[in-house]
Amino acid sequence: MLFKVCWILVACVSKSILTDSSAASDDNTCSTVQNKCASRVGCGMALHNFFIGCHSVIYGETDICTVQCQRALISLLSTEDKVGLAFMNCECDNNEFCNTRKQRVQICTKDVLDAMESVNYSTTVVSCTLAQWICEADTSCYTALRYYVSHCGQLIDGHVCTSRCNNSLDILYRQDKATQLISCTCDGSEDYDCIKLRRNTERLCFNRDVPYHSINDDDRNGARSLAMFVWSVSLEYLVLFALGLVIIRTLS
Ligand SMILES: *[C@@H]1O[C@H](CO)[C@@H](O)[C@H](O)[C@H]1NC(C)=O
Ligand SMILES: *[C@@H]1O[C@H](CO)[C@@H](O)[C@H](O)[C@H]1NC(C)=O
Repeated sequence: MLFKVCWILVACVSKSILTDSSAASDDNTCSTVQNKCASRVGCGMALHNFFIGCHSVIYGETDICTVQCQRALISLLSTEDKVGLAFMNCECDNNEFCNTRKQRVQICTKDVLDAMESVNYSTTVVSCTLAQWICEADTSCYTALRYYVSHCGQLIDGHVCTSRCNNSLDILYRQDKATQLISCTCDGSEDYDCIKLRRNTERLCFNRDVPYHSINDDDRNGARSLAMFVWSVSLEYLVLFALGLVIIRTLS
């Protein structure tokens, strides 16, 4: 299921991007494109997610495209200014590791291209985890999401929607790349209590007591708190970002 949703989403976000020739730039060598990507928050995030999430694919430890690698590619393909896509299509400049990497990642990109042919954008359902990745690949959406996470901690306990929280929610919802985050469905793969958060947001901030029709009612992650989510996300990004930087430096 997740696999399917992944590809549909990849197809959606990459359909317009891949068919747009403006993605090609004059200096298309991988080291140039990689530096350009790494210097932006959103693309840099997607890039280190790619090197970590696609590690087993890049190093030939697997013959299939892993879910982590699919997600990383989704993130990379949805970056602003199409720098992530340019990185996927860059010229290796006789760098052997670069050539091997590109060749191995093709087990993933082939599926992406195939899926693009059969997708209907208007009927695609997106899981909240994937929607989060899309948002995080965009610098301003990423920033808005961080504000939301840091100001809306009380929502998960069902106490109050503070004006700061409501304000950051408003800013988040105005981001182009947050569209899928607003309509996403909780499928249980989230690392926080997605259903509770969605319900409380509706009830406390918008005064609507309508549960999302597509929400899975099985409240498995009930014990998890948003605080835990905030903490794990912050920690994860700190570690991943440092690791990503080290990997990027080493590889380029
Ligand atoms: C996509 O789905 C919508 C709603 O079901 C439909 O109206 C539209 O014609 C479909 N588009 C394509 C290209 O199949
Ligand atoms: C939050 O903001 C919306 C407008 O964006 C408003 O309709 C709503 O009443 C606000 N909720 C609270 C709890 O302040």
